Amino acid sequence: MERNYLADSNRYKTMKYNRCGKSGLLLPAISLGLWHNFGFADNFDNSREIIRKAFDRGVTHFDLANNYGPPAGSAEEVFGSILKKDFASYRDEMVITSKAGYDMWEGPYGEWGSRKYLVASLNQSLKRMELEYVDIFYSHRFDPYTPLEETMMALDHLVKSGKALYAGISNYSPEQTQTAIQILNKLGTPCLIHQSRYSMLDRVVENGLLNVLEDNGVGFVAFSPLAQGVLSDRYLKGIPTGSRASKAHFLKPGFITPELIASISQLNDMALQRGQTLAQMSTAWLLRDHRVTSVIVGVSSVQQLNDNIDTLKNIAFSKDEEEKIRSIVEAVYFMPLG
Ligand SMILES: NC(=O)c1ccc[n+]([C@@H]2O[C@H](COP(=O)([O-])OP(=O)(O)OC[C@H]3O[C@@H](n4cnc5c(N)ncnc54)[C@H](OP(=O)(O)O)[C@@H]3O)[C@@H](O)[C@H]2O)c1
Repeated sequence: MERNYLADSNRYKTMKYNRCGKSGLLLPAISLGLWHNFGFADNFDNSREIIRKAFDRGVTHFDLANNYGPPAGSAEEVFGSILKKDFASYRDEMVITSKAGYDMWEGPYGEWGSRKYLVASLNQSLKRMELEYVDIFYSHRFDPYTPLEETMMALDHLVKSGKALYAGISNYSPEQTQTAIQILNKLGTPCLIHQSRYSMLDRVVENGLLNVLEDNGVGFVAFSPLAQGVLSDRYLKGIPTGSRASKAHFLKPGFITPELIASISQLNDMALQRGQTLAQMSTAWLLRDHRVTSVIVGVSSVQQLNDNIDTLKNIAFSKDEEEKIRSIVEAVYFMPLG
């Protein structure tokens, strides 16, 4: 695919951009995550085509982490190589993130939330992506063994050193989030954003987290909006070859029970009545809440990407529809790993 890339001149016409909390930063309602499908193990041309198409359709926000691949780190390398080939002149139109918190390298300094790990990890990520800075750097998970002050001081340091423009946290509880926000405020580097799992099948963030963020003017991005593909038509007729569940690593086939599929079918019928795919209805359902700044989708094809971005054609729900969705998903509430 060695053709030159020129971004679509209409790219900002249809995407919706939401303010991230009370910050100056706008994020697209649909963002793209590179957890799966962008490693050395994946098809490079497909990965590149997805990034190009996303940008052509106004997706400016690309979500990465040190450990995305497989192998860990390779998604950042693949993305860096796509940036170099296609996006050298578009860097200032992109919001690129990385994170550190999970197991990344051997020994006592390769995971969690020490200053030692976070600073080393971002330095490695910048090298892999061949970037001077990331736009947002996240503490990927709360570290029960390290003082929260140390983790937040590391984020503050990385922002003040120019290696990240903003600081974020991910997978923190409402209480941990409140404390982290206070520490960062004192340091003079406000918390920009919180990233957590949120879908019709996992609504834990409704129990306090979204309120803490709104009260403090912090943005929220939802990950795994389709519960890794379950909230789409992907598994209605079994587990297709090549699908995430068929790989049986992050999404275990055992989660996809006949009871779950019966409920997913009901949701699918509802989506079709609304003139949408189920993937679109699932993402729209998240975006109907003004506290959700952006939804990070993961895709294995340009077709899925287009389908997801077309969500924005209809994100309104009637009271009846909301009630019906609530009653269907309450029966099958589950939490896929990820
Ligand atoms: N902060 C954290 O701890 C954390 C954790 C997890 C994820 N994330 C971020 O969130 C991003 C998204 O997570 P996710 O990949 O789990 O999201 P997801 O959108 O819930 O699941 C993505 C999968 O759903 C399927 N899919 C997507 N669009 C579809 C469509 N229109 N129709 C049918 N199937 C569709 C594809 O499965 P197939 O591959 O089977 O085609 C795709 O790989 C990640 O890339 C990452 O950036 C962050």
